[in-house]
Amino acid sequence: MTDNKSLMENMRLTYRPKLPVTLRCPVRAVEGEPTQSVADQDAIKELFPTTYGMPQLTFERDDSAMPPEKPFNVGVILSGGQAPGGHNVICGLYDGIKALNKYCRLFGFLGGPNGLVKHRYIEITGDMIEEYRNTGGFDIIGSGRTKLEKPEQFEAGLQILRELKITALVIIGGDDSNTNAAILAEYYKAHDSGVQVIGVPKTIDGDLKNEHIEISFGFDTATKVYSELIGNVARDCNSAKKYWHFMKLMGRSASHIALECALQTRPNYCIISEEVEALEKTLHDIAEEIATIVVKRHDMGMDYGTVLVPEGIVEFVPTMKKLIAELNEMLTKFPEISRLREMEQNNFVREHLSEENRVVYDSLPEEVARQLALDRDEHGNVMVSQIESERLLSSMVAHVLDMRAQAGEIEPIKFKTQHHFFGYEGRASFPSNFDADYCYSLGYNASHLIFVGATGYMSAITHLGRKAQDWVACGVPITMMMNMERRSGKDKPVIRKALVDLEGAPFKHFVENRDKWALETCYIYPGPIQFFGPEELVDKISYTLFFEQFGKE
Ligand code: FBP
Repeated sequence: MTDNKSLMENMRLTYRPKLPVTLRCPVRAVEGEPTQSVADQDAIKELFPTTYGMPQLTFERDDSAMPPEKPFNVGVILSGGQAPGGHNVICGLYDGIKALNKYCRLFGFLGGPNGLVKHRYIEITGDMIEEYRNTGGFDIIGSGRTKLEKPEQFEAGLQILRELKITALVIIGGDDSNTNAAILAEYYKAHDSGVQVIGVPKTIDGDLKNEHIEISFGFDTATKVYSELIGNVARDCNSAKKYWHFMKLMGRSASHIALECALQTRPNYCIISEEVEALEKTLHDIAEEIATIVVKRHDMGMDYGTVLVPEGIVEFVPTMKKLIAELNEMLTKFPEISRLREMEQNNFVREHLSEENRVVYDSLPEEVARQLALDRDEHGNVMVSQIESERLLSSMVAHVLDMRAQAGEIEPIKFKTQHHFFGYEGRASFPSNFDADYCYSLGYNASHLIFVGATGYMSAITHLGRKAQDWVACGVPITMMMNMERRSGKDKPVIRKALVDLEGAPFKHFVENRDKWALETCYIYPGPIQFFGPEELVDKISYTLFFEQFGKE
């Protein structure tokens, strides 16, 4: 036990992640049928001539499989936002390559993809690994959002990979980072560089999933942390009975996090962005709906409630979406906008917007308009976590209530609000047992993919609704998940993001129950993630995964 760590950290260091049986023995890869991309097959094939169409791989026990004769070196990169379990991917990868040959070495590139380009790295040793098992955060090597997309970057990376005799690179990231992993894999293969590239599906947002990737890691833990916090707020709300709490939840684009948290906590209202888009709702429509619930609860003597707001909402409201698309094109066409002073920027944007979008732009609070128009991350995404949509909405609801009262439709209502944003609180938390096991398995599986010579593959573990020992380990060609999308004014190959499926079992379960949850007070208090205790508690999977795998409760 070390005294520079909390008691919990010390105890978690001793947890032994559960590994699927298929990863605990010598294996051989079994090839499936050739694959194709989810859409735009011709365009993707042309862009990925050497890695397109590769078969899916699964692993089978093979006691005759010989370990590699020579040790090999591996590099690892953490890319993008933190997600609980990242350290365990690295621990699994380390243990996996050491089990293949104890002289294999692992190097970590520091601060994300830029570490590869700028040649900043450390060797990850056994002693370091012991300090990070089952811990949250990405601090072992740090992360970053630099996009690896240019041949100069690939060549700069190759230089250090050669110097360190690294023959395989593992990139742990979300859809954008794995898209870049595929591009890098293609480049290194086409140039006969002798470097394999393997991706690992990470993001708390839960939107890097498809038929083969059942869930990205970090989603399980982050939603459990947020649900604990929402439950605590709901209990306070139900005790004090005087506030409406508007809680914004992270998730840049899709509403998987909000939906999962709604299923775990049963709030009075939860916005699902994908539904808003499908029904072509405006922000005003949403405010009207919430106001109606506020009035009904008031009539029943309940001037309090809980509302969940997904971070990505503004991008899904059709009028806002059109505005953002035009702003994106404008930023690509006139990059000089970012160098103008604030007032000039605003004038420039207004002058160049179409009439329709200018009306929407002008209707927004100044700060929100500025964030939409100018703030972008390295991938050109609107920085939605900076937009205070929870405040925007609650003020719109207050306005609707005032209007209704002025029109004599309702009596004046006490509508006192509190605002919360749960995002960063969940990204570096101790991984739940599920994420600890899943991540360790993903990392360990990556070592098998390297061993069989795969490149351009994502490490995948499936059948996650079963006990960990029965999970299935496989490799999925990244090109299989791709389609062409318009990004920064150009058509680009990208991994298709998974949005909330409005026909899917998790959303249907929510729809069946939400009217009851709106008017009655049905809050559920999930409490903190548990690491010690009965299996059904410590190994509980998310509702999303449960409903997706088993249909209903
Ligand atoms: P990734 O897609 O890289 O995993 O990050 C997701 C996320 O946590 C979003 O939920 C959020 O919008 C964003 O990162 C915040 O980014 P930053 O860490 O740069 O503030």
